[in-house]
Amino acid sequence: MSDEKGSQPKLLYPPYTSTLLRAPSQPLIRLPHNFSDQTAPVYGYLPLGETDSDLTRQHAGEPLGERIIVAGRVVDEDGRPVPHTLIEIWQCNAAGRYMHSRDDHPAPLDPNFSGGGRMITDAQGNYQFTTIKPGAYPWRNHPNAWRPAHIHFSLFGTSFQTRLVTQMYFPNDPLFPFDPIMQSVPDEQARLRLVSKFDLGLTTPEWALGYRFDIVLRGRDSTPFEERT
Ligand SMILES: [Fe+2]
Repeated sequence: MSDEKGSQPKLLYPPYTSTLLRAPSQPLIRLPHNFSDQTAPVYGYLPLGETDSDLTRQHAGEPLGERIIVAGRVVDEDGRPVPHTLIEIWQCNAAGRYMHSRDDHPAPLDPNFSGGGRMITDAQGNYQFTTIKPGAYPWRNHPNAWRPAHIHFSLFGTSFQTRLVTQMYFPNDPLFPFDPIMQSVPDEQARLRLVSKFDLGLTTPEWALGYRFDIVLRGRDSTPFEERT
């Protein structure tokens, strides 16, 4: 993993308690890549559906909450667009609840919101999702622990070897200083690269607020990634 000036999260960060269990205790060993690593299929068998990138239209009714547009560009270290990259997102609903069996905290589920989406970047590296602004949620990492509102992102390049996972946050969230996941990225400027920017130009009148989140895959301005496979 490249780490320019602390731009990537620490694998072992005791305030984020689950890193105590999963961080490697031995030096990492680089495994040689074999042919199937490079050629195995990356995408699911199902083609992308019309509503895969619009999380507000995946059920019979509209989900509750603040409708938002999240868009950005995937670029390499030199600012060149990265086209044809599968982006998958997942998030909780407006009340802070995931549609997942392990999330049982007392906030309502929304039958019209699953919280999963995907799309492929275009020739200029652009992507765009329509969704609902997620809520904060408690997570028992430490007393009174709450995650700032966030959307999980996974990016696939040409093989499973090139999967990257990160989280996007929203501007000016008061929970940032108390969130060990965000704070596990040592460099403040790198942490700020995880925060989307409100974009009036992306905002659609009478419909949805717009947030821009550009993703830089490598280099000095790299987005912090929690997982590089
Ligand atoms: Fe989450």
